Amino acid sequence: MLRTKVKTILEKGVAEQDVCVCGWVRTKRVSKNFAFVVVNDGSSQLDIQCVVDADTPAFAKLDNILTGASVKIEGKLKASQGKEQSWEIHTKNLEIFGKSDETYPLQKKGHTLEYLRDISQFRSRTNTLGAIFRIRNAVAAAIHHFFQERGFIWVHTPIITGNDCEGAGELFHITNHSPYGKNAIKNANEDFFGKPAYLTVSGQLQGEIFAMSHGEIYTFGPTFRAENSNTSRHLAEFWMVEPEVAFNDLKDNMALAEDFFKYVGKQALDKCPHEFAFLENQYKVINQEELHRLFSQKFQHITYTDAVDQLQKSGQKFDYEVKWGIDLQSEHERYLTDTVFKCPTIVTDYPKTIKPFYMKVNSDDKTVAAMDVLVPKVGEIIGGSQREDQLEIILARMNELGLATETLDWYLDLRRFGSTPHSGFGLGLERLVQYLTGMGNIRDVIPFPRTPGSLSF
Ligand code: 4AD
Ligand code: MG
Repeated sequence: MLRTKVKTILEKGVAEQDVCVCGWVRTKRVSKNFAFVVVNDGSSQLDIQCVVDADTPAFAKLDNILTGASVKIEGKLKASQGKEQSWEIHTKNLEIFGKSDETYPLQKKGHTLEYLRDISQFRSRTNTLGAIFRIRNAVAAAIHHFFQERGFIWVHTPIITGNDCEGAGELFHITNHSPYGKNAIKNANEDFFGKPAYLTVSGQLQGEIFAMSHGEIYTFGPTFRAENSNTSRHLAEFWMVEPEVAFNDLKDNMALAEDFFKYVGKQALDKCPHEFAFLENQYKVINQEELHRLFSQKFQHITYTDAVDQLQKSGQKFDYEVKWGIDLQSEHERYLTDTVFKCPTIVTDYPKTIKPFYMKVNSDDKTVAAMDVLVPKVGEIIGGSQREDQLEIILARMNELGLATETLDWYLDLRRFGSTPHSGFGLGLERLVQYLTGMGNIRDVIPFPRTPGSLSF
């Protein structure tokens, strides 16, 4: 008999239908006349309950079925009497694929997220991580839908690169030589590419090439940063989506970011109702109604200069003093979103001294056409800008920052030939999933987190 997924049964099941389900045993309860085996196959947040009558051959096999075992169950679908589920399977045949035993680490419910982080080989089988990774999938799919429906081209920018897009020096160097021992090389020109090579911190610069040929594009893939910040919002490897649009100015860019954020959020809520309901009940951090409300509300806009003003006037004591010219710290960002505006907020026009070389210099010559989207509880979720499209100005900026122009000559060519106003932004996938799921730690929204001093799996 063909296997049916639990999700399909729960959505489209028909009474008295014969079904076959394969999955992992969550719990087993045996009494004298019958037993309940609860199975989850990962297709749904919800489990399926299988009833095994004592007078069936399947009942005799139950001794070997413990939490965590994988099984195949065939039987008849019946409306369930229990209030927890709509359907149950009345078991005819039961087969064990792989057994389990008392040492299986997920015996009970309610393990801490910290404990689960050490067992990434199992944690995706739990209700919590199961929900998060189905939501992450829905978010990733919605990202593609949003851009594809609007005719954006997905560009596969490289993971290995020769430039530091953000200029923050947070690069992982890559080489095929061992940096240890006597064969270590001393010069980059002896290395694989004949020059220094890194893992990309952003696909933006290559994305801009395609915005100048295809108009509206996006990149979506893994991104790497050797930031030594062991925080609940930073990863060394994370996923970023970066649209880049020819002819868009900062205002268009802000509107695109807002539409995009709301679309993806709504889609995730729509596609994963059981997952959100579970997280809402279990952790009491998110509230679906509140999320829906945020997705239908207009984002707040404030310039960096006004934000600094507000923060200074707030009377609030911050660890890090607020002065014009500082990079806003997460305590400042959180104050704006959680206390002042209580909704997603776009801060624009930051001082040029704290932003990368590629951002468009405003007419005041002090600020750049930058935008950060900040959301309650998480802080910065999107960073973007209008790009400097004038050759002389971008060259002056690079000189000011001491950047070597030779390695970015190809990028400057975009300003030499057919330059246009253009804008884009980057959204951190994990920050978005964190925001939607209410998870306090970013390590719990990526399957295999990479952070300073930690590389398992
Ligand atoms: O603000 P960032 O550094 O912007 C860029 O990289 C631009 N090149 C984007 C563009 O304009 N195309 O990073 C963008 C977003 C941040 O807002 C944040 O959500 C996420 O990427 N991010 C991280 N997420 C997890 N761990 C880290 N270490 C992150 N660094 C940035
Ligand atoms: Mg940023």
